[in-house]
Amino acid sequence: MFKKILLLYVIIECVKFQCALAAYKHDTGSLSIFQEFERYARRTDTFRRSPIELFLRTDPQGEWFKEVLKDLKTMNHWNSTVSGEMSLFSSALVEGTWYNISNNGTCNCCDVNNPMDPFHVHLSLTGRPGEVVVSWNTAERPPDEKSCVMVSNATGAQLGLFCSSDIRTFSLGSGYSPYLCSNYSGFASHVKISSLKPGETYTYTIYGTSKNKTFPFMAPYGNTSSTTRLAFFTDIGTKGGQPVIDALKQKMNDFDYIILPGDQSYSDGYHTTFDAYLTLFEDVIASKPYMVSTGNHEGPWNFTYARNNFYWPVNESGAALDALWYSIDEGPVHYIFMNYENYFSYPLGEWEMTQPAPLSTFPGQLEWLQNDLEKFSKRRESNPNLWLIMMAHRPLTCNISGKSCEVFGPELEKEVFPLMYQYKADMYWCGHVHAYERVNPIDNVTRTQCSNCVQQNGSLYKQPPYPVQVMNGIAGRAVADNNYFTPGISYPDYAQVRIDAINYPFGGYALVQVNDTVLNFTLYNTSGTVLDSFRIEK
Ligand SMILES: *[C@@H]1O[C@H](CO)[C@@H](O)[C@H](O)[C@H]1NC(C)=O
Ligand SMILES: *[C@@H]1O[C@H](CO)[C@@H](O)[C@H](O)[C@H]1NC(C)=O
Ligand SMILES: *[C@@H]1O[C@H](CO)[C@@H](O)[C@H](O)[C@H]1NC(C)=O
Ligand SMILES: *[C@@H]1O[C@H](CO)[C@@H](O)[C@H](O)[C@H]1NC(C)=O
Ligand SMILES: *[C@@H]1O[C@H](CO)[C@@H](O)[C@H](O)[C@H]1NC(C)=O
Ligand SMILES: *[C@@H]1O[C@H](CO)[C@@H](O)[C@H](O)[C@H]1NC(C)=O
Ligand SMILES: *[C@@H]1O[C@H](CO)[C@@H](O)[C@H](O)[C@H]1NC(C)=O
Ligand SMILES: *[C@@H]1O[C@H](CO)[C@@H](O)[C@H](O)[C@H]1NC(C)=O
Ligand SMILES: *[C@@H]1O[C@H](CO)[C@@H](O)[C@H](O)[C@H]1NC(C)=O
Ligand SMILES: *[C@@H]1O[C@H](CO)[C@@H](O)[C@H](O)[C@H]1NC(C)=O
Ligand SMILES: *[C@@H]1O[C@H](CO)[C@@H](O)[C@H](O)[C@H]1NC(C)=O
Ligand SMILES: *[C@@H]1O[C@H](CO)[C@@H](O)[C@H](O)[C@H]1NC(C)=O
Repeated sequence: MFKKILLLYVIIECVKFQCALAAYKHDTGSLSIFQEFERYARRTDTFRRSPIELFLRTDPQGEWFKEVLKDLKTMNHWNSTVSGEMSLFSSALVEGTWYNISNNGTCNCCDVNNPMDPFHVHLSLTGRPGEVVVSWNTAERPPDEKSCVMVSNATGAQLGLFCSSDIRTFSLGSGYSPYLCSNYSGFASHVKISSLKPGETYTYTIYGTSKNKTFPFMAPYGNTSSTTRLAFFTDIGTKGGQPVIDALKQKMNDFDYIILPGDQSYSDGYHTTFDAYLTLFEDVIASKPYMVSTGNHEGPWNFTYARNNFYWPVNESGAALDALWYSIDEGPVHYIFMNYENYFSYPLGEWEMTQPAPLSTFPGQLEWLQNDLEKFSKRRESNPNLWLIMMAHRPLTCNISGKSCEVFGPELEKEVFPLMYQYKADMYWCGHVHAYERVNPIDNVTRTQCSNCVQQNGSLYKQPPYPVQVMNGIAGRAVADNNYFTPGISYPDYAQVRIDAINYPFGGYALVQVNDTVLNFTLYNTSGTVLDSFRIEK
């Protein structure tokens, strides 16, 4: 058993670093998608192991995979001269096809027979008190370029229609066939509901052709409350993420919104898998605002899916309309979402995942960040109890062997650390590596731990002078992805807590509560176990 897990781990590592892909690239002919996939699955990688193991991990998965292969056989749109995406493709398959996406190569977001039915609804925050944005998909463009929702108060009195002409659609790729999702058709509507009373409960209704959808929600506090509570995780799969999604459904009374700095669904450019993920999550995120930014797995097709389907409060936070960074205030916390994911060069094609790049690679990001931090620090002068949490998909300080912590982390630190320390960030949040690591406050130059701030066996940070870093990448993938921390080697004393990946059917997520002076952070396994718990006291 252990041997098998280890073997799978090696394969995933390989897939991640594209060694399988590089080896495979050289020997493709013009085969059908099925033949090609089979060849990929049967070939032996540089570790002399067969990727088919990935799919045969459990018997049910084996049965399921036979069905997938049957479906693939019927597809005609595969361009076999472009084969490198196989590793990504297989990830999307594993995560998504469990949900039996009937896909013939044409990609429709929604129900073509009921073209105005609302699909995968979710909410976003804008950072403003009493304001949310409702987002959903329809198969056809809403009439008169106008999408509307009806808002009612808790006793059912209709407050009126809120409408918007923010309706987005997209075509995919340029030059490459987007395989499972060619000829995309679908529309994403985003409707802002404003001027509600913070903390009050309301409902909204979206009217469809064959069904209407109604969800309850709480009008956000923005900065008008001295407390806030949320769920935070990264790196959540579709099938792999189901346990976390199910666990959150049981905890709806314990958090008001969700923060996810990157990697959701593992659709890797196959939009039907992203649709399946958002559909699966709908009961949660249609009621609890879902604030995301992009990781490497949202990269394919230049972030097209995420850019169209999520309303990011870029304009509200002074960023350019096409920025992949923004900030929001909720309770006493100022959250900054940053982006390192490089969309300027796709060495292996536009479907490719992104590579990390310094903040300043992206025109305007560093300037925006400095400006945002400066404005925040003015506000903190008059209210020293405000918290600053900065985040991005990838880790800065971490201790996993491999590029993410050894090469990219130190590179990314060079720009982020000076700002994070100058403006006294309380925390840095990230994921990307599918493990959990909590890093104690360290001096940004000497890398020594704060001497007195770590107390109570590391469960309390008392007036820490530097940020606490949390890498929380264990929300769960469908494929085994374990054993990141090497047993028996010594880690720096600031690596306070380390937890290896926990995958399907487990996964983990954090619930965070903050008031003026205390931040509570609790990491749960979906089986209910508390995996880590600490607090920061100002
Ligand atoms: C397949 O992709 C290659 C590389 O982009 C392209 O040159 C070729 O025309 C494509 N073939 C088909 C049938 O679309
Ligand atoms: C997927 O759905 C199709 C069409 O509804 C059905 O024929 C097929 O049996 C389903 N496959 C699985 C594995 O559930
Ligand atoms: C694929 O399925 C969609 C319905 O989901 C249908 O409208 C379309 O005609 C089909 N395309 C092909 C090539 O079979
Ligand atoms: C909802 O609105 C109606 C009509 O304005 C009002 O009578 C009622 O008190 C409101 N309910 C709540 C919970 O605010
Ligand atoms: C793509 O969709 C359009 C309508 O949305 C349709 O006219 C066209 O035939 C489709 N092309 C293919 C190759 O399916
Ligand atoms: C949706 O709501 C509208 C307005 O209340 C109503 O006329 C319509 O019958 C509803 N549709 C369905 C399918 O329930
Ligand atoms: C909330 O933010 C607004 C806009 O930045 C500011 O004018 C106001 O003073 C803030 N309120 C509190 C309680 O911090
Ligand atoms: C951006 O915000 C400004 C004011 O802050 C507003 O005038 C403008 O219409 C907004 N643009 C968009 C596209 O929302
Ligand atoms: C990706 O999209 C952004 C925003 O629309 C655009 O500025 C950029 O040029 C695009 N990059 C590529 C490689 O197409
Ligand atoms: C270290 O933090 C200080 C602020 O405390 C900042 O001014 C300096 O630029 C930082 N240096 C590095 C190398 O991060
Ligand atoms: C933090 O957790 C403790 C123990 O559960 C609780 O007593 C306290 O109220 C929490 N603090 C905040 C700010 O939520
Ligand atoms: C914040 O929460 C802590 C418990 O975690 C409590 O002791 C403290 O009184 C709270 N602060 C305020 C202003 O309520």
